[in-house]
Amino acid sequence: MEDAGLREQRRQRLAASGQAHLLRYWDGLEEGERAELLADLDDCHFPESLCFFRRAAQQAAPEQQQQQQQHRVDESMEPVPKEVQGSVSRDRERLPGWQAEGLLQISQSKVAVLLLAGGQGTRLGVTFPKGMYNVGLLSQKTLFQIQAERILKLQQWASEQFGHKCMIPWYIMTSGRTMDSTKEFFVKNDYFGLQKENIIFFQQGMLPALTFDGKAILEGKSKIAMAPDGNGGLYRALGNQKIVEDMEDRGIAYIHVYCVDNILVKVADPTFIGFCVEQQADCGAKVVEKTHPTEAVGVVCKVNGLYQVVEYSEITLATAQKRNADGHLMFNAGNICNHYFTLQFLKDVVKIHEPKLQHHIARKKIPYINDQGQQINPDKPNGIKMEKFVFDIFQFSKKFVIFEVLREDEFSPLKNADSQDGKDTPSTARHALMSLHHRWVLNAGGQFVDENGSRIPAIPSSATGMSEAVTAVVNDNLKELTDLPIKCEISPLVSYAGEGLGKHVAGHDFRAPLIIDEKGIHELIKNGL
Ligand code: UTP
Repeated sequence: MEDAGLREQRRQRLAASGQAHLLRYWDGLEEGERAELLADLDDCHFPESLCFFRRAAQQAAPEQQQQQQQHRVDESMEPVPKEVQGSVSRDRERLPGWQAEGLLQISQSKVAVLLLAGGQGTRLGVTFPKGMYNVGLLSQKTLFQIQAERILKLQQWASEQFGHKCMIPWYIMTSGRTMDSTKEFFVKNDYFGLQKENIIFFQQGMLPALTFDGKAILEGKSKIAMAPDGNGGLYRALGNQKIVEDMEDRGIAYIHVYCVDNILVKVADPTFIGFCVEQQADCGAKVVEKTHPTEAVGVVCKVNGLYQVVEYSEITLATAQKRNADGHLMFNAGNICNHYFTLQFLKDVVKIHEPKLQHHIARKKIPYINDQGQQINPDKPNGIKMEKFVFDIFQFSKKFVIFEVLREDEFSPLKNADSQDGKDTPSTARHALMSLHHRWVLNAGGQFVDENGSRIPAIPSSATGMSEAVTAVVNDNLKELTDLPIKCEISPLVSYAGEGLGKHVAGHDFRAPLIIDEKGIHELIKNGL
């Protein structure tokens, strides 16, 4: 318990930062509640948080200036030059070479993966970390398990290819509110077969949510509304939790950073790693083609000569609609939060550049407790959260590259709860994975038959290079098919990206639901499951 003198000092410090209102309910709090409030106050670091707030607020344009700002961004925007682009569809003949290079680096234990898992998952609306979510696959695997098994498989693949053991350390960034449950989940699942010492959890920072005039918000009588400092909080955490040193000690040279919610993520994708290494890039981004001008996806481009991600809302419609002679959108490099960094680049970011990064301000509806002690859920934004973004550091790259991949093969994020016609939901994630695995079986020479034994026609592939009209038709077909996908799931322990399936499926007819895992092939209906 604090004594009266210390409490008075604290009150004065809070008053000096304009935050005395946070002690409004102090006298009526129980001892445990007081301890909770004191812990939150210690985490807030008000002088620093308010300094971030003032800097960010200066940059945030008032609504009437936003149009002017859009024109300024438009005028200085250029697409990523062709010379620094790689593509799975345009560079087919080079893919095996890049993959071999990536596997070589992995086999030498020079590649680490880093998972951004500190988000709050507010749109999905669950109280536990998103990685623990089960989207309803046949196997009931969670996102964490799928990613862990892809790492296991890749380690095994690289080890077999080069004849010696290797490991891919997995760095997992959580936030104050997700750390304990994430760790417990890994312990409970025996680290999904990975070695405990190669999974390194670390914690990003939290910042208080503030009203528009910089006052922290009480979400309960003894609880301050706090939020993680954005996925770009990574760089500060890498420094202050000594993660960069850990990577150095393990001999890591290349890091693949990705988001927890993309069910199709190719963790430490050897082809992407190999491409970036061959290009001698220090920073790379995987992208998917943005197909519609109004699609709400950030695009990777250059602004005033520096690489950055520009959100759809930051540019005018006229710019979003610009097309090249071949009919593709001029600004079409859709960011999917899937990045490559060299360790050297991360070290420079942590040591030199991170403090220069500004927070972005997001206006949010923040639940609060009013003067009468009632809990209020506002129906319009009443405050802000401050966040840095993982891509804010592209501007510091000396050799930046992008690698374009097919959306249906590599990108299906889980953002929202299920709803009819919802985007990025558990259903769309589940369907995306099952239709990818269906295609793997077809590509490896297997077929699916219906209950009468008749072959089910193959899914059309929405390869790039199609006109928008054709894409729309294919997407409609895909949608129809994905409403009723063939239920097919292949364990990552059997195949990382569709390789090696021929021996299991070539020349065979299967009846869905089908699971292929390390124990064998299971046709659930035939097996009466
Ligand atoms: P999103 O921006 O989609 O946020 O995060 P979210 O927390 O998952 O979901 P909402 O917006 O609250 O509904 C993209 C990725 O960045 C990570 C998330 O865990 C996810 O992998 N992230 C986000 C962090 O690691 N830290 C943050 O502070 C924010």
